[in-house]
Amino acid sequence: MITFTETQRKLVLNHTALYPEYALLDPTLLTTVPRQAQVAAGMDALTHAVESYLSREATKRSQQWALRAIELIAQHFRIAVQNPADLEAQAGMQQAAMIAGLAFSVSRLGIVHAMALPLSALFGVPHGVANAILLPYGLEFNRPAVVEQVGNIARAMGVCKDSDMTEEASKKAVAAIRELAEDVGAPGCMREVGVAEATIERMAQDAIESAHISRNPRPVKIDDIISLYHKAY
Ligand SMILES: [Fe+2]
Repeated sequence: MITFTETQRKLVLNHTALYPEYALLDPTLLTTVPRQAQVAAGMDALTHAVESYLSREATKRSQQWALRAIELIAQHFRIAVQNPADLEAQAGMQQAAMIAGLAFSVSRLGIVHAMALPLSALFGVPHGVANAILLPYGLEFNRPAVVEQVGNIARAMGVCKDSDMTEEASKKAVAAIRELAEDVGAPGCMREVGVAEATIERMAQDAIESAHISRNPRPVKIDDIISLYHKAY
């Protein structure tokens, strides 16, 4: 990740040579992580999984990984935040973050990450917090284009019944993500984290140029981004 302080832009470097061959997951390391960092990292992992699952470049395999990560996060996130000493919950979150990483290394991400980067570059909002605020709005925006997949997210989170119709299930996914973010104590709007409303157009300009936009399941115009920023404000 590179932040250009002069132009206030944030870019991500990506190349297969940068991918590790092994990951050592030790949940004991997470027991002393400050709560805010844990919330931000968990919401980032969830955003990776959701955006990867819905990406235009997702594969069958990356989607399986993404759904598994969503399942693990729904199961363990609240507990890990409430009781950091719970190693099972921490291990679940750690595994979820890694699997979500595998998934998005294949599929890349989408509108939420594109919109989150300017919040960090211009206002220093932690990356995961920016995602936490924008994820419900981005998902609601994408929902009509990928209603069935969004319904599957609700199923992975365990928030809908088998009898729920697709439309119903997809709405439950957005609600469940909103609720999870609230339960773990993530900030709910851009105003709360010190973003200036006057910069929305500038941020939208930066967001639309992000490579993530081309992977988003629903085509995105700059006006869509401006309106989503206003909603999230
Ligand atoms: Fe991220």
